[in-house]
Amino acid sequence: MSKLTESPAWHALKFHQATIEAIHMRQMFQNDPARFDKFSLKLGDLLFDYSKNRINDQTVDLLIELAEQARLPAWIERMFGGEKINSTEQRAALHTALRNRAEHPAMVDGKDVMPDVWRVLGLMRSFTDAVRGGKHLGHTGKQITDIVNIGIGGSDLGPLMVCEALKPYARQSMRAHFVSNIDGTHLIETLKKLDAASTLFIVSSKTFTTQETLTNARSARAWLIEKLGDEQAVANHFAAVSTNLAATAQFGINPHNVFEFWDWVGGRYSLWSAIGLPIALYVGMDKFEELLDGGYAMDEHFRSAPLDKNIPVLMGLLGIWYGNFFGAASNAVFPYDQYLHRFPAYLQQLEMESNGKRVDRDGNPVNCDTGMVVWGEPGTNGQHAFYQLIHQGTRMIPADFLAPMHSQNPIGEHHAILLANCYAQTEALMLGKSKEEARAELVAQGLQGEALEALLPHKVFPGNKPTNSLLFEKLDPYTLGMLIALYEHKVFVQSVVWNINPFDQWGVELGKQLAGKIWPELRDSTSATKHDASTNGLINHYLARHDD
Ligand code: F6P
Repeated sequence: MSKLTESPAWHALKFHQATIEAIHMRQMFQNDPARFDKFSLKLGDLLFDYSKNRINDQTVDLLIELAEQARLPAWIERMFGGEKINSTEQRAALHTALRNRAEHPAMVDGKDVMPDVWRVLGLMRSFTDAVRGGKHLGHTGKQITDIVNIGIGGSDLGPLMVCEALKPYARQSMRAHFVSNIDGTHLIETLKKLDAASTLFIVSSKTFTTQETLTNARSARAWLIEKLGDEQAVANHFAAVSTNLAATAQFGINPHNVFEFWDWVGGRYSLWSAIGLPIALYVGMDKFEELLDGGYAMDEHFRSAPLDKNIPVLMGLLGIWYGNFFGAASNAVFPYDQYLHRFPAYLQQLEMESNGKRVDRDGNPVNCDTGMVVWGEPGTNGQHAFYQLIHQGTRMIPADFLAPMHSQNPIGEHHAILLANCYAQTEALMLGKSKEEARAELVAQGLQGEALEALLPHKVFPGNKPTNSLLFEKLDPYTLGMLIALYEHKVFVQSVVWNINPFDQWGVELGKQLAGKIWPELRDSTSATKHDASTNGLINHYLARHDD
């Protein structure tokens, strides 16, 4: 048994859950007209409304006790202090240094890493300005108009999500493309749209050993040489971002186009580093730095706000409340901003790779659930697809609703209608529709007798479904930086309570190892016998169709 579930705070929360279980949020709002004021916080332009949660004052107190019992404040300082809190890889998790906009140092192994951080930011600025300003041209003298990021996981999802989110800030003449999948279709369909003479490839890989990325990069290189008819063209058309400079050199990338980051930056926390180069090329270095500023503002809040006024802390604890005390298995994220359409996909890696752990920091199996399944789509699309299950299904799915007050594309009544839908969903999920209300509605529609009674249960909404609302003025780089850092810290808070390491990802290794064994069999063998019957059968199914 781990200490967590035996702890006084855990027991108190378990006991308290039974009280809360019996109360409907409708009632909570009726009883307390100041509930919104009490359970909402502002940070700059960001409004965090957590009043539509199944909580009262005592819940918050107990959750804070849980965080204090886990020594969250000390863990926050350990992270910012560059301690090697990624213990299974013996690394610091100092992504906050990448957006440390103050003069104070950030130490790893007794060394201030800030001079390196500023140096690489400077290199990124020079390169970005040269490409965007037409000084860094393609091999044949053409201006670069298309950048193709080749990377996967943290070397893809963050920059891709940010480029999509900041599209209104991008230069019209610059296009950003992202190739991640080893499926050749991804690369080929991207290349179809491109002129090699004006394309810059950025090979992004923390390790520079990732099979998908290196295979795609080699194929892109071959395509470029074939199109431009000269191997020398690679020098102007390929850049790389990595911690492994020996491997980028071996790949043949011009050292002037190589941007370094460090092993104290986790892959899924790396968009703030040179992994953000495609973002900088797309929107310009000033906007990239505004993104860092936003991240820094959230860091300062996380570090200094009291736990009960701390947005990432409260969001993390609310996730634990539902995941561990109400049995919720998933957390939905619904951005009511089309530009955030890849935000849920980005969060999937951030949360699920970080907190998808089954043993604690000491290697003992945890005895409570850890990370939730994260999923979502932009509103209002999801409303017409899967919200039904959240409203009337049997599961509890806590959801975050994100929305800007101002659209980047104001046309007619679109934005007011969008927000009306966003607010209506959180209201409907909280209020539901009682049997009496449903009955009154059916009567008003002229139904009665058996027909009414038959339809009635289908028209009832239980409500009492928890949501957070995150409202901001406009999806600008600064706000986006705040939002990303907010979720990073939320994940960290949860990991501290569960006493798991959110910065490693050993769980992705087994599949990689087995793929490494199966690949030669698909290529060279005539029949598979060494695996289980199913895997042998699947391999043989392929081999029977590739006897060339
Ligand atoms: O396989 C998972 C993973 O290691 C992620 O953690 C990482 O973001 C991704 O692969 C890509 O790794 P790299 O940047 O080293 O190519």
